[in-house]
Amino acid sequence: MLKTVLLGPAYTAPESNHVTYLADALIEIDQDGKITAVLTPDEPGYQEHLREAKEAGLLHELIPGQVIVPGFVDLHIHAPQWPQAGHALDKPLADWLNDDTFPLEAKYEDLEYAQTIYHDLVHTLLANGTTTALFFGTIHTEANLVLARECMDQGLRSAIGRVAMDNPDQTPAYYRDESSQEAVAETERFIQALEFLGQGEPLAPLPVITPRFVPSCSDGTLAGLGRLAKKYDLPVQSHVSESNWEHQYAIDRFGLHDAEVLDKFGLLTAKTVLAHGTQLTDHDANLLRERGVAIAHCPISNAYFGNGVLPVNQLLKNGNQLGLGSDISGGYSPSLYDNIRHAVALSQVRTDGVANDDQGKPDSRISVQTAFYLATKGGAQALNLPVGAVEAGCQADLQILTDPHPWPKESPLDRFERLMYQATRAVVTAVMVNGDLVYQVRD
Ligand code: GUN
Ligand code: FE
Repeated sequence: MLKTVLLGPAYTAPESNHVTYLADALIEIDQDGKITAVLTPDEPGYQEHLREAKEAGLLHELIPGQVIVPGFVDLHIHAPQWPQAGHALDKPLADWLNDDTFPLEAKYEDLEYAQTIYHDLVHTLLANGTTTALFFGTIHTEANLVLARECMDQGLRSAIGRVAMDNPDQTPAYYRDESSQEAVAETERFIQALEFLGQGEPLAPLPVITPRFVPSCSDGTLAGLGRLAKKYDLPVQSHVSESNWEHQYAIDRFGLHDAEVLDKFGLLTAKTVLAHGTQLTDHDANLLRERGVAIAHCPISNAYFGNGVLPVNQLLKNGNQLGLGSDISGGYSPSLYDNIRHAVALSQVRTDGVANDDQGKPDSRISVQTAFYLATKGGAQALNLPVGAVEAGCQADLQILTDPHPWPKESPLDRFERLMYQATRAVVTAVMVNGDLVYQVRD
């Protein structure tokens, strides 16, 4: 039984190096929200399927100027940092964490505060075309459950981590786990509470094991979380070699690179997503590839905190898995459109260098098609979720965009590129998750 059928032009990125245009695509969506067929007019059966959808009253035909693209997967976002998106980004990472971010995150002990912020954040993400988010929460289990409830109520697909951080040298007394035992036990309580909350819900959030980053965690916490990842077979998320300071910290404490430390504690699995990685060496990148770990590229954040730009093109060629993250609030924008644009721009800066005597790194350019792939199918694959594409077998997590400038005589791929550069929240007209309308522009 079909739930709905969409008819209109669609774009999807089947691979990292290109986007496919589907003219007049007929997208059939079943009762479970799965895309069961994507037909184009040259395919047999198209006219028959079109007639049947019309007769059953299921056809939703896009108006001229509208296009369909997959919903975005934000592969790295700190939900509690939403109120400070765009604050103090001229500070270095460690100062920004200690002066601004930890005091803000500590406020989520107050569940009313959490409710206010999380309600607004989830709505904002949907309005910007994000249909899946991999969230860092805070250390507060109950506030993280408030975020989970908001995601389910508003229709955002999510994976949520209760942040573990107990190292007294690198975390403030007012915002830390009291011991590694507490960090691990509270993570386990969160996993069980979230699984209970999501029972029977189509968009039950996935619990994610979340050591904040190596500096924040004692050896006992890293080891205990590695054991939990194995026991529950759940995803893991953290930061890796985000900046010169973080990269050097791991070397000073362990005599190892950040990625090797996470590996030593059993935290690198085929379900792990690590943010940033601007300072990863070739050896680290190979280790991540061998373990099946995905990297969340956060280009806006790289510009502020990364001391460099992730070598996206080289990593893709090396066989590493990549997606795109906003890193709110290391990045200021909740829009993955903004992050797509920055990913391309920063790749040019990486290629050309930043001064006359700096020749940059050749072969670092990426196209807007590649950045769009990262924001859609790349992120979906990182989370092992069947979303991120207009393809049979994927869940129907989709955006309908209204092109403000549908120029005549423009090729479909030129139009796609222009839309990616110009799309703001105003262009996102409707958003579907599991084939259900979860956001629609009000007239
Ligand atoms: N490293 C540890 N915590 C954070 C955080 O909240 N944001 C970023 N960008 N990096 C971190
Ligand atoms: Fe981050």
